[in-house]
Formats: sequence, C-alpha cells, structure tokens
Amino acid sequence: MSVNVAVVGATGAVGREFIKVLEQRNFPFTNIKFLASKRSAGSQIQFKGKSYTVEELTEKSFAGIDIGLFSAGGSISKQYAPAAVKAGTIVVDNSSAFRMDPKVPLVVPEVNPEDIEKHQGIIANPNCSTIIMVVPVWPLHKVNKIKRLVVSTYQAASGAGWKAMEELRNQTAAVLAGKEAKPEVLPHKYAFNLFSHNSKIGPDGYNEEESKMVSETRKMFHDPDIMVSPTCVRVPVLRAHSESINITFSEPMTEAKVKEILATAPGVKIVDDREKNYFPMPLDASDQGDVFVGRIRMDISQPDGRGINLFVSGDQLLKGAALNAVQIAELLPMVKGKSKKCSCGCSCR
Ligand code: A2P
Repeated sequence: MSVNVAVVGATGAVGREFIKVLEQRNFPFTNIKFLASKRSAGSQIQFKGKSYTVEELTEKSFAGIDIGLFSAGGSISKQYAPAAVKAGTIVVDNSSAFRMDPKVPLVVPEVNPEDIEKHQGIIANPNCSTIIMVVPVWPLHKVNKIKRLVVSTYQAASGAGWKAMEELRNQTAAVLAGKEAKPEVLPHKYAFNLFSHNSKIGPDGYNEEESKMVSETRKMFHDPDIMVSPTCVRVPVLRAHSESINITFSEPMTEAKVKEILATAPGVKIVDDREKNYFPMPLDASDQGDVFVGRIRMDISQPDGRGINLFVSGDQLLKGAALNAVQIAELLPMVKGKSKKCSCGCSCR
C-alpha cells in the first residue's frame, strides 16, 4: 500500500519540525509534497537528501494524498481540511479548528490511541500545553483517579510561531544594546518580561489557552468530571514549555508510587535530582521527544496524602505539536508497522 503525504504549512515553525520528525522517524512514504502560502511557493525544502519545491496550497492539492499533516493555523484548516477529506485524505490537524468537534478524535498516542479508529477523515492534535500536561498525568490517573489539577504554565515563544521566536531574539538584542524593544508580534514587551497568555479572554476571565487545557483534558480522558484550574503565562524562553502541576487524587498517593509509575510511562523522562538541584528545564527539553518530569513531591497543603506536585518541561514544537501528529499518523492502518528505527530524541516505547 502506498503512503502519499502532504505537509501543510511546511515553512512554519511546526511545519519545519514535521519535516525533521518525518526524516528522523523514517516515516514510510511513497510520495511527499510540501504546501504553504503563495508567498513561499517555489522555495526549496531539503528532505531525505532530496530537494522539493514548495507548492501553493489549493483545494486541488490533495488528489492522491493519503495523509495530510496540517499546521498552517485554524482558518486554513477550516478552509482546506474538508476539501482534503473529500479527496480521500486523512487529515491530522495541529490547529484548534476541530478539536472539540464530537466527530473528531483528539489524540495523544500515549493516552487514547484507540480513539483514532473513530475518525471520519480528521484527527485533531491537542493544544501543546495540554499534551505536555497529559503525558505524565494520564498514567497516574489510570492508577489513582485524579479529581483536580491546578496547572500554571511557563510558555515559550515557539508556541506563537517562528515570528514570535524572532521577536524574542531581536528584542533581547535590542535591550542589551540599550535600544527600545518594540512589540510587533506579541502584545507586550517580551525580552526580560513575562505576561499572561496572549489568547483571547472569555467572559469567565480565562483565556483560550486555559479553556483548551480544561476541555481537551476532559475529552481525551473521557472524564467530564476531572477539574482543571489553569493559569497560562508566556515567558521569555525560545522553545519548550514548562508547567507546575498540582494534582489531587481520589485516594492517598506517595512520591515513591508516582516515581515508580512515571519511570516506565511512555514519553516521560524523570529528571529529579534533589542533591544537585537539577530538575526539568526548557533548554534541556528542547529538541527532545520526551516530557521531562521532576520536583516530584507531596503537596504539604493536603495532609490527607492525596496531593502531589510536579514540574515538567516539554518541547512544544515536538511532543506539543509535530511529533505527536506524526505519532498519530504512524497509528493509521496504511502506516502501522511500517516505521523503521527512529533516531529522534524520544523514548519511542
Ligand atoms: P508561508 O511561510 O508561505 O506564510 P507559523 O506558525 O510559524 O507562523 O507558520 C505558519 C505556516 O502556515 C507557514 O508555513 C505559512 O506559509 C502557512 N500559511 C499561512 N497562510 C497560509 C495560506 N493562506 N495558505 C497556505 N499556507 C499558509
């Protein structure tokens, strides 16, 4: 069976990671094409030692394409995914366009791979902060049902695209040179600062990023009762998001049990050295496929022993986006079992 692949948004921050991940994981393909806007059409992309010409995305781009990896933003997904599905393409969509559509499975392969089978042409990749939280939290939830999660994020520029990464670099250089740092991509001064996540704020006072963490976790866990209280913050880090996660379990839990579960959890790497004060850091988690987990400790404010604290870092562009989407594609019947040895920074269990 042939596997023809299209990468939509191939020139963007996540699109470029798609290309690296497909290469590193030896994703099996017969033909591959790279799609972006008219602006990039004609530019060249190197993939597996070959040069490919970027094509302009149109509704006709999907003839003969089996899998479309979309990462060009929600409006492009809304506009072009239906045409792709009509052409027989299975869309793995990295945007928020279809995530909460009941007909669309929302999948993290370490959490709910079985949901993929229910797809009707589109499978959604969750929000990056949600993915990074659920990878370590799900294996704990399976053993001792979680009642409540309080999560505070420390989100990198990469989540807002390559232009935001450039803005952070440029502003930092400007401030160090004694010049003014002018915000253009993000709403506030970014160098030597942090601010509440730049997504729209709803009537309840929560921004869209926070609301996604609540609704997407409930959807993937198939648990409408799990309580999630998020605060999302953009910090001046280039790549890889971090999160402080406070968990309340149904039953008492111990640090040792949490460590034992996480030690064999897929996609998790424990970094928890109290002696050296060495814990997850975005610089270490960058370019890595696993979510780094540390600061594993009892919540001393819950004397009944049901509270645990974690601190995690995960690469937003990889596990938070491109890697998760490619892992979903690897579970599709035409790909399953065909992937060869992987050389990316994930534990690939
Ligand atoms: P282009 O580079 O041609 O603008 P990022 O998330 O880093 O901002 O990247 C967004 C991605 O989505 C880029 O690959 C960008 O292509 C692509 N894109 C943006 N607008 C369109 C469009 N109208 N049609 C197709 N691709 C688009």
